[in-house]
Amino acid sequence: MNCIIALSGKGGVGKTTLAGMFVRSLVELGKKPVLAIDADPNSCLADMLGVKVRFTIGAARETVRDESEAQKISKQELLRMKISQGLVESSGFDLISMGRPEGPGCYCYANNVLKLAIKELSDQYKYVVLDNEAGLENLSRRIVQTVNVLVLVSDASNAGLNTLERLYSLASEMRIGYGKLVLLVNRTRNGELPEAAQRVKENTKAQKILALPYDEEIALLAEHSKPVWDASKDNEIYKTLRGLMAEIAE
Ligand SMILES: Nc1ncnc2c1ncn2[C@@H]1O[C@H](COP(=O)(O)OP(=O)(O)OP(=O)(O)O)[C@@H](O)[C@H]1O
Ligand SMILES: [Mg+2]
Repeated sequence: MNCIIALSGKGGVGKTTLAGMFVRSLVELGKKPVLAIDADPNSCLADMLGVKVRFTIGAARETVRDESEAQKISKQELLRMKISQGLVESSGFDLISMGRPEGPGCYCYANNVLKLAIKELSDQYKYVVLDNEAGLENLSRRIVQTVNVLVLVSDASNAGLNTLERLYSLASEMRIGYGKLVLLVNRTRNGELPEAAQRVKENTKAQKILALPYDEEIALLAEHSKPVWDASKDNEIYKTLRGLMAEIAE
């Protein structure tokens, strides 16, 4: 049995940064191999992990359409080949990027392709970290069958915390299945949970809520497009998330 950890939350709250830290933590805890999935069409996870994407599943869709007739093999088979070619292999983790479907056509198709890819790929990995675009769309499209750990990310503002509650309600309404719910309140002023956090934890029945401070080192890495591996081992965010990953892995 593998463990799928999916991050969701509103725009710009730090999902991709924290997803990168999850991957790093799992790799450094020896919980390998990890599959990182960038399900955001505006892919950024590769940069965060310091790897280059050769092509995305969105791009594969276009070539499959043109090539399958020429090569006389089924689209499905060709897609499988493309997906494995699109997999970026690094030490301890691999990455697959959804990208955006190019040219005219249905977005759902790329989504179905990703679903197939994830289903086939996931079984080969102990841990899967899924970074989503803002909102719950990817989860509601059932990109993964079941999520073991759903991580909802917010900033420390009251509006951000209210959004967490709304995301939770949405997840319940859409019957998104998960084993555990973890809330991360990112970029807090002093690394402490804001006052309203306890209420949010109770209302969402989350197993855990953690505060992550605004962090100069993280901000500086972003300014210079540096990957999460460049953050020091005693970076507060890294230490907290490594602890969280160790708990989840138990
Ligand atoms: N704890 C933190 N301290 C300082 N800066 C942070 C912290 N967390 C994230 N950031 C910065 O906030 C910005 C947004 O982060 P990120 O891209 O990870 O958010 P996101 O939720 O994935 O955004 P999107 O919704 O666009 O995918 C980045 O510049 C990142 O470096
Ligand atoms: Mg992101």
